[in-house]
Amino acid sequence: MRGARILSVGSAVPNLSINNHKISEIVETSDEWIVTRTGIKERRILTGVNKSVVDLAALASIRALKKISMKPKDIDLIILATSSPNDLFGSASQLQHQIGANKAAAFDLTAACSGFVLGVVTASQFIQNGSYNNILVVGADVLSKWTNWSDRSTCILFGDGAGAAIIQSCSKRQNGILGFQLNTDGQKSDQLSIAYRNNVLADAKWPTSKGEFEYIHMNGKEVYKFAVSKVPSSILDCLDSLKISVQDVNWMLLHQANERILNAVAEKLGITSDKIIANLRKYGNTSAASIPLALDEALQQSKINKNDIIVMAGFGAGLTWATVVIQWKC
Ligand code: ACO
Repeated sequence: MRGARILSVGSAVPNLSINNHKISEIVETSDEWIVTRTGIKERRILTGVNKSVVDLAALASIRALKKISMKPKDIDLIILATSSPNDLFGSASQLQHQIGANKAAAFDLTAACSGFVLGVVTASQFIQNGSYNNILVVGADVLSKWTNWSDRSTCILFGDGAGAAIIQSCSKRQNGILGFQLNTDGQKSDQLSIAYRNNVLADAKWPTSKGEFEYIHMNGKEVYKFAVSKVPSSILDCLDSLKISVQDVNWMLLHQANERILNAVAEKLGITSDKIIANLRKYGNTSAASIPLALDEALQQSKINKNDIIVMAGFGAGLTWATVVIQWKC
């Protein structure tokens, strides 16, 4: 088995920022309510007829590539984690074309807010077993297009964004992807969904249908309880299997859903608040993009040092929750 490590990270957000005051002009809410319940002050929203999740993903990818002067043609595989694709057949191929990574195989991965962590784990398997050397993992979502802007319980939460990581093979000694823990509870899939509604076409010659997707539906209280109970045990199981103690963790980087969830998970684990990486105040919940977006920002702020242990955990629709423990090797 070879090693795998994250070599570079890049991110991209749309220019338009919508703060809580602006949202309170659309639905009955207030800056005070949103900040107290979620910690979110503003979020970025993608606009423009021809702009899509692929544009954000491409910009984040190019930024990650530029940091290490890697050419797009050196990428062997692209994994695009998204729940808001341009095309239900997949958008990773559009990303491949847009950045000129014409030698890369490419596929989409759908696992909502756990998507980036699952992408990193998937990439590490391909690298550690010797199949590929350079893999681009992108978490990107434009959930604003599935947001019901008259539903105050959800429209305050989400923002658009993308984050990209280049994962490369290395010696076993240099391995930076230490271990993972993945979970799914399909019985609760209806607690958070963008459901497909099938409409039977009555006037067709044979039984046929043309469906559409509904808006984001979320049982906020249940998702909150799920996150606070399941994420700490997933992190602990993963650390235990690696014989790493909670005290050895330098950074906790959770999916940026809600500041209260971040604090509750840290408290349950006995992790002090100075070890929490958080940027949801500025961006809201950007789904699959939230972890790489926050990682990129933490790196730009020179928070993370060589050999730091970082616990990354995603959680959300599915319901899915996933932990990966990494050691920063650059
Ligand atoms: N402004 C003002 N009042 C509101 C708003 C709002 N934006 N939204 C709801 N309310 C009201 C409700 O109507 C309710 O009023 P009532 O008591 O008269 O019925 C009251 O505020 C309390 O509502 P709750 O839903 O109980 O509020 P709660 O404290 O649970 O907070 C929240 C809601 C912030 C959504 C919380 O439940 C939460 O963060 N849940 C987790 C969400 C999450 O983490 N999602 C992650 C996954 S996302 C993904 O995978 C794509």
